[in-house]
Amino acid sequence: MRKKNTVQSRIFFTKERKIDLHDLEELCDSVGWSRRPLRKIQRALKNSFIIVSAWEIRKNQRRLIGFARATSDHAFNATIWDVVIHPRFQSQGLGKGMISYMIRHLKNEDISNITLFADPQVVDFYCRLGFVIEPEGIKGMFWYPN
Ligand SMILES: CC(C)(COP(=O)(O)OP(=O)(O)OC[C@H]1O[C@@H](n2cnc3c(N)ncnc32)[C@H](O)[C@@H]1OP(=O)(O)O)[C@@H](O)C(=O)NCCC(=O)NCCS
Repeated sequence: MRKKNTVQSRIFFTKERKIDLHDLEELCDSVGWSRRPLRKIQRALKNSFIIVSAWEIRKNQRRLIGFARATSDHAFNATIWDVVIHPRFQSQGLGKGMISYMIRHLKNEDISNITLFADPQVVDFYCRLGFVIEPEGIKGMFWYPN
């Protein structure tokens, strides 16, 4: 009788800050985001308050499958950016788990105001996590160079 190929895999979240920029670029490519200069990404990571990532371990190999980061004034406010789960791992609760993990750590740092900018197609994803659209009518405003 042939043995079933049951390679075990494990997924975990971490706050470890060391992320290979090419792995991150590959992850962002996988969801169709446009590329940004790696040196600017590197600077953005360096200046982020918390970086969270999701990894799959399979046959002793580690693979980056999720990412999010938050910037902060280290006192009152934090803003979450660049939330992504690799398409092969979506719809399994990992995005929810990763953002909950981020929120837990921001709360531990005594940050009470957590904001983000949601793409229209993911608004409900964040609402399910407790985020509120325009609380008390507050509007997000943007300025772009001409
Ligand atoms: C958005 C994203 C991070 C969600 O990750 P995910 O691992 O697929 O989400 P989860 O499986 O944890 O879903 C959690 C809940 O949100 C819901 N959900 C997930 N994606 C959703 C979406 N696009 N719209 C509405 N609800 C969504 C799920 O149904 C689930 O609901 P439940 O708790 O009632 O079961 C992922 O789809 C992604 O990386 N998308 C591409 C990049 C992107 O758009 N990032 C956000 C930029 S603002």
